[in-house]
Amino acid sequence: MRRPIVAGNWKMHRTLGEATELAGEIDRALAAVAEVDVVLCPPFTALEAVRRRIADGRLRLGAQNLHWPTEGAFTGEISAAMLGDLDCSFVIVGHSERRAQFGETDRVVNRKVRAVVAAGMKPILCVGETQEQRDDGCTEKVVREQVSRGVDGVEDALIDAVIAYEPVWAIGTGRTASAAQVQEVHGLIREQIRGIAGNAGDALRIQYGGSVKPENAREIFAQPDVDGGLIGGASLDAASFAAIVEAAI
Ligand code: PGA
Repeated sequence: MRRPIVAGNWKMHRTLGEATELAGEIDRALAAVAEVDVVLCPPFTALEAVRRRIADGRLRLGAQNLHWPTEGAFTGEISAAMLGDLDCSFVIVGHSERRAQFGETDRVVNRKVRAVVAAGMKPILCVGETQEQRDDGCTEKVVREQVSRGVDGVEDALIDAVIAYEPVWAIGTGRTASAAQVQEVHGLIREQIRGIAGNAGDALRIQYGGSVKPENAREIFAQPDVDGGLIGGASLDAASFAAIVEAAI
């Protein structure tokens, strides 16, 4: 049995005080939940404060991005070792906002995935098609390419990795993919990972992301190849996020 995993991607929201408060609220709301891995991904600036706030180890810490070299003259960037220092267990890589707004290609995404694994953390590799690609019937091709290029060279680490299927047209739009659409793509991804890394395909956890709310989470999480979610907007409200986590039990 795969253990469900729900991650909150806070994106560029919450200053230090706000982030600490939100982490505390989530911590309290989920005090009795032990069946789900819960990951908070605040902005870089709040990682240390959130780390201290959730120090009892029930909640895990994740970062939203990194730069792949170990160190060097890269003004404004953050390395894997720096995130490891802060006890980050997970790093989101290849989110569609980074692909679309910051020019991240599959090659860049793969370098980042490799850096995360090399530093002993786990990647949450985001993949997903645009509305146009779905309309053109290219969903499977696009997702397959993003997955195969994204995980190249880290086949041995896939057993611990997370892939987040996030159709771009469902992110922040209020439009959720139907449970059947989600399961179809998750099933394809799992089959693909079985082909690449054998039994790791059964262990790897696949999250759905894109307008997940307390109202739709249970039906999506009930699909056989859905192992939880990557939550944007609804992760900024402790009660909503807690309800989504509980839907994954
Ligand atoms: P959303 O974002 O839940 O606000 O749609 C999901 C994500 O971007 O990871």
